[in-house]
Amino acid sequence: MAKVAQPRSQVAVPARDAVALPERAAEHASASNCRASSRRWLPTVGLLAWIAVAAVAGCSTEPAPRDTHNTISDSGDISSFFYELLLWLDVVIGVAVVAVWAWALVRFKRAAGDDTLPVQNHGDAKMEMIWTAIPTVIVIAITVPMLVGVFRLAKRPDQNQQIIEIDVTGKQWWWEFQYKGGSANGLHTANEVHVQANTAVVMNMTSSDVIHAWWVPRLTGKRDATPGRSYPLYFTAREPGIYDGQCAELCGASHALMGTKLFVHPPAKEVEVEYAGKKVTLDSYETWVKGQLAPAAAPTGPELERGAKLFKDKTCPTCHLVKGLEGAESASPSMTTGPNLTHVGSRMTIGANTLPNTPDNVAKWILDPQAIKPGAKMTKIAMSPDEAKAIAAFLTSLK
Ligand code: CUA
Repeated sequence: MAKVAQPRSQVAVPARDAVALPERAAEHASASNCRASSRRWLPTVGLLAWIAVAAVAGCSTEPAPRDTHNTISDSGDISSFFYELLLWLDVVIGVAVVAVWAWALVRFKRAAGDDTLPVQNHGDAKMEMIWTAIPTVIVIAITVPMLVGVFRLAKRPDQNQQIIEIDVTGKQWWWEFQYKGGSANGLHTANEVHVQANTAVVMNMTSSDVIHAWWVPRLTGKRDATPGRSYPLYFTAREPGIYDGQCAELCGASHALMGTKLFVHPPAKEVEVEYAGKKVTLDSYETWVKGQLAPAAAPTGPELERGAKLFKDKTCPTCHLVKGLEGAESASPSMTTGPNLTHVGSRMTIGANTLPNTPDNVAKWILDPQAIKPGAKMTKIAMSPDEAKAIAAFLTSLK
């Protein structure tokens, strides 16, 4: 007779397994109990680890270059104040909520064998009034000072005092600064902006392409630079120093490489400040202005002369102005496609705070700007590394 296949479920369990099953279930239960009890601690351990990491994550012995705390201007102090206000309010609310919750856990723990329903307080007018009143008070405590702060930030400095006014234009992917009025009238520079300590500054932000946002965290909050519009930013910086900033609005391929630097100069004589662990001497603001308004120094020596000639032969002046260099002055100061290079050698960085300003880096940039800054609008002009080196030597000599 042919053997008929049985469905799987009807296959008899061998006797050995049938006997072993209850024992194994017991073993399994005891093992999983053990695992469950160790797993019960996991959330607590996780929470403690998280608190430990969070507590030290932002730790530093001194202000970080892009620190939003330790602000150095009146306007920054207002935003810092709100940060502190919200932080401490949240700490108080957080601690109070956790304390009440922990107290309720202990106080209202169900006793063994007690199956009675707890007191139901749905519709308790007193409690509802309390939990409506408390958040209302908190919201008022935040809103009132916030409104006062917003109006203070938007108040243009008094015209009767010295004001440094700068038109700021965001471009893919660099910043253009044009000074209006005062001793710096007509001064035109890029990426690194200079102001004077304890002097009111008015910045008029705009953009010539897409939306950017100028942001120096230690100075104050962000300000959008929007095409076709001008948004003002007012501040008075206190402490002479050098502060890093970053474009804070996604603006294309090299958004992350659109940095900026703010130099706060002392009003009178030069001072020594610390930047990136090094001592740097900052001239007085007026000394800096005078230097920048002067035409470029004439190239001295055959190497610099060759660099200046190559700068013109390779058509660099189509986009870049070098005031004082014959044949490189045609680009209008107010309409340059690329940064004004008249005193490019005096800048700390090139490529909008991307690389230190050294002859090697400038040569690399000239040879292949897109390799350093993807999407950079600067044309890659055919030249030998030696020619780029000569141009770089000339440019970095323009202090
Ligand atoms: Cu400009 Cu982001």
